[in-house]
Amino acid sequence: MEHIAIATTGGDAPGMNAAIRAAVRTAVAENLKVIGFTRGYEGLLANEYVNLDERAVGGIIYNGGTFLKTSRAEAMKTYEGISKASEILKKNDIDGLVVIGGDGSFRAASDLHRSNNVPVVGIPATIDNDLAGTDTTIGFDTAVNTALEAIDKIRDTATSHERVFIIEVMGRDRGFIALEVGIAAGAGVILIPEIDCDVGAVCHRLLDNYHRGKSSGIVVMAEGAGNCMEITEAIREKTGFEVRLARLGHIQRGGHPTAYSRLLACKMGDASVNFLLEGRKKDMTAIQGGRICPVDLSYAISADKPIDEEIYKLALTLDI
Ligand code: F6P
Repeated sequence: MEHIAIATTGGDAPGMNAAIRAAVRTAVAENLKVIGFTRGYEGLLANEYVNLDERAVGGIIYNGGTFLKTSRAEAMKTYEGISKASEILKKNDIDGLVVIGGDGSFRAASDLHRSNNVPVVGIPATIDNDLAGTDTTIGFDTAVNTALEAIDKIRDTATSHERVFIIEVMGRDRGFIALEVGIAAGAGVILIPEIDCDVGAVCHRLLDNYHRGKSSGIVVMAEGAGNCMEITEAIREKTGFEVRLARLGHIQRGGHPTAYSRLLACKMGDASVNFLLEGRKKDMTAIQGGRICPVDLSYAISADKPIDEEIYKLALTLDI
């Protein structure tokens, strides 16, 4: 193996830059040449890349986003797109591809491997934490901490005005962010797509809390758990409380990565190159019980990642 390529694809996640840096520096230390396709798979399809050496990735470890830029490339869902990307990898003599992204990115990486046998390694980087086979993903911890900081601030207003706040967090169709930040923020109610939302039960809980002396409330809701505007309106109507909705949106995707996100990115970036050198063909760098290990890409994108029901129960236990 002499020549590898790196791309960041799909939604950006804090820690992507730290992962690029680690992969490049490990590769350089192993005498590999590295290029970085810009704008994710869009750049790959247009054959747009930059040469990456150890200095090219200096001073980026603490930045959010991705300096290689990213995109959601619809073309990679088609046979033509995969064939074109395969040809471009061949034309550039790429012996291995490191894809830093989420499930859509890994699906395309898997198809690329199937199309031209190029070894691919995926580094899981998504704030949603929705990839199976890895305990967590690069950026998830940062997103949870960013949301937590915002909710702590909203709590000041909730308490002062004796209001109920519905706070919508990201997560696409999964509730990992909502669950972790909900518990850390001391939310009374956490709504996630994995557990059916019963608005009547939510109102009952808020009213019950009120009668036990809680004059304000925080409801953390995952974006995939339902229509936040309808739920806000229903809670307002059924409880008579002063209710406000705050949608945190893309602030959760930006900002400096936390120490944990950076550390994970450093370990996974390094492992991605080592996996290629070991001759692995189609793996994800995973973390399981604190240890980095390979997991087949197909498993990562197809298996179900369960939520931790124990911590969901913990949220209910602590809300008295
Ligand atoms: O996958 C990350 C994520 O931020 C999801 O939580 C969210 O649903 C989606 O991306 C938003 O995507 P976009 O930035 O393309 O609107």
